[in-house]
Amino acid sequence: MADPASSDPQRTGDLDRDNTLLQAAAFAEHLQRSGVAFLPRANPDRVAEFKQRFAPSIPIAPATEKKAAVEQVAEEKILPKPPESRPESRPESRPESRPEFQSTSIRGEAAKRYPCEARPVSQRTAELDTLASTVAACTKCPELVHCRTQTVFGEGDPQARFVFFGEGPGADEDRTGRPFVGKAGQLLDKMIVACKLTRDEVYILNTVKCRPPGNRNPEPEEIENCRPFFESQLEIIRPQYIVCLGAVGTQALLRSKLPIGKLRGKFHRYFDSKVVATYHPAYLLRNPAAKKAAWADLQMMLKDAGISLR
Ligand code: URA
Repeated sequence: MADPASSDPQRTGDLDRDNTLLQAAAFAEHLQRSGVAFLPRANPDRVAEFKQRFAPSIPIAPATEKKAAVEQVAEEKILPKPPESRPESRPESRPESRPEFQSTSIRGEAAKRYPCEARPVSQRTAELDTLASTVAACTKCPELVHCRTQTVFGEGDPQARFVFFGEGPGADEDRTGRPFVGKAGQLLDKMIVACKLTRDEVYILNTVKCRPPGNRNPEPEEIENCRPFFESQLEIIRPQYIVCLGAVGTQALLRSKLPIGKLRGKFHRYFDSKVVATYHPAYLLRNPAAKKAAWADLQMMLKDAGISLR
């Protein structure tokens, strides 16, 4: 059926305006949550009212374009953006495991806030640098320390609105010290580009920072040893959205034992961040039929974030 909006210039103009306003509101909300000082403090009631007013009427993309985008990802026709250069070296020390956190459905009990106030970007960069040095010196997991070439801390924008949270380094990551640079990383790059984002405006990290030998899954104890590191990274960055890639990362972050098929398709909560669970790119490479579901998960997030794919 033809989209009535497409033949009505007045309505098309209204939708464009609404879309722009929604994106501006969502972005302003993110900046304020990130502690940007030049904006007035957000009034959550006004933001909610604004979203309520505009969101229901705004199509993220006309059905035909959505379908085309799904097919593009499914067929891997989206060109990958080349990986960005690695941020320079990072100095020393950082933290203990975070106190408690909340992992609920987004509709559940009101989420707890991140324990600390948002930091300015310079402080975030310094804290991440210090934490990376602590990670590089970590010897908690004897087998991993023995096998690793180097630790893989994570990289990206310390104020990222979107964080992608993987499982652990593979051979390419162990060699280069950067997350998601192998085959799975190339697919992740395509997924990021399909979201109208770039690799350097998101942040990418893993659950464990050392490569498990033979690409085995990290052991529960290894995940717990790394927990203070990934929890601190997330607390420093405090993204609006965390995309968990695969069961290992999702279950670790949400402290859930449910399979990924049960966790995907809805929002969860990690402190102030909304969590989207989806399939790991390595799984998608082996099971291309699951790309459609993964793209639906990302679209759910983009719609919530006010990012139009039109
Ligand atoms: N798989 C992951 O989970 N992380 C990486 O960095 C690479 C592959």
